Amino acid sequence: MESHFPSDKNAPSKFSKEEDEISPKTLETCRDMVSALPRENGWKAYGDICFYQGFWCYSYLLEGAIFAQDHYKAQPTDIFICSVPKSGTTWLKSLTFAIVTRTQFDNSTSPLLNQNPHNCVPLLEIDFSRKGIKPEPGSLPLMSTHMPYASLPKSIIDSGCKIVYICREPKDSFVSLWHYASKLRAGLQEPMSLEETFELFCKGFSDYGPYWDHLLGYWKASLEQPEKILFLKYEDLIKDTSFSVKKMAEFMGYPFSLEEEKEGKIQDIVQFCSFENMSNLEISKTGKYSSDSILVEIKTLYRKGKIGDWKNCLTAEMAERLDKITEQKLGEFGLSFAKNDA
Ligand code: A3P
Repeated sequence: MESHFPSDKNAPSKFSKEEDEISPKTLETCRDMVSALPRENGWKAYGDICFYQGFWCYSYLLEGAIFAQDHYKAQPTDIFICSVPKSGTTWLKSLTFAIVTRTQFDNSTSPLLNQNPHNCVPLLEIDFSRKGIKPEPGSLPLMSTHMPYASLPKSIIDSGCKIVYICREPKDSFVSLWHYASKLRAGLQEPMSLEETFELFCKGFSDYGPYWDHLLGYWKASLEQPEKILFLKYEDLIKDTSFSVKKMAEFMGYPFSLEEEKEGKIQDIVQFCSFENMSNLEISKTGKYSSDSILVEIKTLYRKGKIGDWKNCLTAEMAERLDKITEQKLGEFGLSFAKNDA
């Protein structure tokens, strides 16, 4: 990904001179640090996951995360899209991008028509750390990360920039991750059984896991600073996308005018970013993106997009075990998922 919509022409997509000079060495240092960390079996075809500051992460992402902790200088105008993988990140990126750029593009000109949504909203761990892409005056204010709240670059917290976080009911998230990881391993590594990965997930060994700790970090922060952190659930977005889009737009500082509402602008965005529309775009059906050194088909980002698909994969015992962990880890903090979403 080389561009940062909407103002490619103006947006400097490289580090400042000073950062440019030190970046190769610093990334090297991050690589050395990561190579010395404790590791466990990863689920995908990227090798092991490493343990750092209480979370598990693939080396290539962790190197970028550590680099960003030292180098990322957030602006108060940045808007961070944060999530644990397989919680609806792709959807949230499409929606926030469409909201923020709605005066520049409509449904027939949106870059989302021929770009993977992950190309439209850059990832801190890769796009900033390896390519220097970040919001600049006049460019899109959106940036994303999967880093846990406690490990975010300090400037993100200090600058008071806004964070939109999406989480998802853990059983559905686990099943989504298992399917995705299986596709990524296919032909490159031995398959991992659902049972094996389930055990790892329950013990916290998953992308940016422990899963529950990730949710809890952002949840607590959102309770303390609701004006800075909008905490969303995938299930709520599914049930009433228009309501969530309106809420997000207000929170991000891009509220819909009455006129826009009357013109059906919210509905347009909801429809455009819907699973049906996005997954049927030509780019989604035939495009690929590079993740570490692996080429991944964009269609792997769109599977079913439903609530409750775990019922097709997990036994009653597995479901009960995950529910119990969820209750133990999140219950006392008031974070739960509606019974009919679980
Ligand atoms: P399933 O595997 O359950 O279908 P992420 O984007 O964080 O990787 O999350 C992936 C999950 O979000 C997948 O769930 C995927 O199908 C779903 N998803 C992707 N785009 C979506 C959309 N526009 N609307 C609803 N769900 C979407």
